[in-house]
This record gives sequence, C-alpha cells and structure tokens, in this order.
Amino acid sequence: MSVLICGGAGYIGSHNIRAFTAHGENVIVIDNLETGHRESIPENIKFYQGDIRDSQILDKIFTENKIEAVIHFCAFSLVGESVEQPLKYFNNNVGGMISLLEAMQRNGIKKIIFSSTAATYGEPKKIPIFETDETIPTNPYGESKRIMEKIIYWVSRRYDIRYVSLRYFNVAGAWHDGSIGEDHIHETHLIPLILQVPLGKREFVTIYGDDYPTKDGTCIRDYVHVEDLAEAHILALEYLRNGGESQIFNLGSGDGYSVMEMINAARKATGQNIPVKIGTRREGDPAKLVADSTKAHEILKWYPKFTNMEEIISSAWKWHQSHPNGYKS
Ligand code: UFG
Repeated sequence: MSVLICGGAGYIGSHNIRAFTAHGENVIVIDNLETGHRESIPENIKFYQGDIRDSQILDKIFTENKIEAVIHFCAFSLVGESVEQPLKYFNNNVGGMISLLEAMQRNGIKKIIFSSTAATYGEPKKIPIFETDETIPTNPYGESKRIMEKIIYWVSRRYDIRYVSLRYFNVAGAWHDGSIGEDHIHETHLIPLILQVPLGKREFVTIYGDDYPTKDGTCIRDYVHVEDLAEAHILALEYLRNGGESQIFNLGSGDGYSVMEMINAARKATGQNIPVKIGTRREGDPAKLVADSTKAHEILKWYPKFTNMEEIISSAWKWHQSHPNGYKS
C-alpha cells in the first residue's frame, strides 16, 4: 500500500516525502507544479503532474496504485495575495479539497491528513491558542483552510473517512543535509527574507512594526521546524492506522519568539551582522501567535526536537547557502 502526497513539490510536501520514505513508506506524489519544484522530488518517486481539481487524474492514480491514505498539501498559501484574489484561493484550495474527497469517496480511500494553519484562528483573544478556541479567520487564505476543515468534517461523518487536520504555526528550517528547503517565487516569510541579507541579496531586513504590545515591540510567533512537522504527519498516519478518530491538532514548538529575537538568532547562526530597518506594521499581522500543542503531545506523542531558534535558522541557512537562487542554483 502507498501514501499519496498531494502537493509534494512544495516546501512542506517535499520534506514530507523525505520523512515518509525514510520511515519506510511507499510514496506517490501528485503536484501541478504551479508553485512547487519538480527538482525537490527524488527521481525514484512515482510522480504525476496534474491538478487535484481534475477528477480524471485522481481516478487514474487511485486505479493504478493501491493507496491507503492521502496527505493533502495542495493549496495557495500567501495571506496578502489571498486578500487581493480571494476567488483564486477559494477555487484552488476549496475546489481542490472537494475534488479530492469526491475521488477518495469514489475509490474507497478512508484516511486523510490535512495541512491546516494557525490562520484559521484569526486574531486570537488569548495566548496560547487551543484547538477548541474560536476560529474567525481574518483573510481568505485562513478562511479557505477553515472551510476545507469543515468540508472534511461533514464528509467524514457521512462516508466513513477519517481525518487528521494539522494546524501549523510558523514553519521554518530545511532538511538536515541542505538538499531541499524553502523556495517561493514571491518570498514573504521572515526567515528566508532575513537570510537574504547575509546572502548579499538585500541590504537590510525590514521589521514590520516595533510598537506591538510585546516585550520588544515586535510580533511574536511560534516557529516549528519542517522536519518536526513532517514527523507529526507520520505520527498522524500511525494514529489513523490504529483506529484513531478524526481530530484537529495544533503544531507549534510552544514558545513564542519575537521578530527581533529571530534576527538576533540569525546573526548568531550566520556569524554576520544583519542590518534592520523599522517599517510600518503589515496589515493583518496579529501581535502574538503561540500554539498550545499539548493535544498533539498527548494523543500523537509528538514532541518537536528543534526548540532552539538558532538551530532552526542554521538548517535554513545551510539550504540557502548551497542554493542561493533556490532550485535554479
Ligand atoms: N516580518 C517582518 N519582516 C519581514 C517579514 C516578516 O517583520 O520582512 C514579520 C511579520 O510581520 C510577522 C513575522 O515576521 O510578525 C512572521 O511573518 P511571516 O510572514 O514569516 O509569517 P506569518 O506569521 O505572517 O505567517 C505564517 C504562515 C502563514 C500562515 C500564518 C498563520 O507563513 O502561511 O503564519 O497566521 F497563514
């Protein structure tokens, strides 16, 4: 039996391919390569280039292979772009989910692990955030993921499909050997942008606001290493295999770090001075997002190994140094 990784050419999907194969799983991948990179998928992995909104290719995959479970990473994920182009996000993210679940139902596939996000919570009323806290997304990206969770919930009740939805906080870092990592066409994430300074691609990093109600005035986030994240997907699959019921889990390291602290950690990890400029706030950024991941600890037995920010940034640095222009290097 195989595991189908949908969106395996993306940042998080490609790390999951590595982790699942290292764990002895047989992996099959589908990706439309709209934002993903073919180079991030090992040559020996069976790869289908296509879109999960295309029911024909899904039926072909489910017919040609014995698929036990689906790990679903396909989505557009830029918050700012989602505000500008909401229909693009609802069409791709929500449309993809409906098509995938329809194909699973037609082909008798009963387990799905879904890539959700802290953005489903919106602006939290208190920290840390629990899975039971209310979800009021503040942008179409977060809303699309929340809608996708609701769709799986109702489908799972009707068709005997069980799911695990994993709400990621701020995913960072790269595979330990530096062979794969984060490579977005429009980079908006803090750590890759910080590292562009020591790479010589930008002169300074702009801090989006230093007047937040936090210890140093900059936003606080909960950074989780992409390898730890991948481990959670493996544990989630084991959990479903052992008959576990459908669940939603937060995945964070459990500690919050400010933008300024991350820049200081990057200075240590790279051994370089990283100049900063204070800019204005970025619209829609909550002051503080920190997960309570106790549920994942207790039920999945998931404990992140990377809790030191310097180590997380060092692993990203290894990738960016060896691939200064991403996969085109
Ligand atoms: N930031 C800067 N300067 C930059 C880039 C980012 O100060 O050049 C700050 C942001 O304001 C924010 C923090 O760094 O406070 C982290 O920003 P990212 O863009 O790296 O990450 P976000 O917290 O905005 O977004 C992440 C995921 C999203 C997800 C969201 C959930 O990347 O996919 O968490 O809230 F939706």
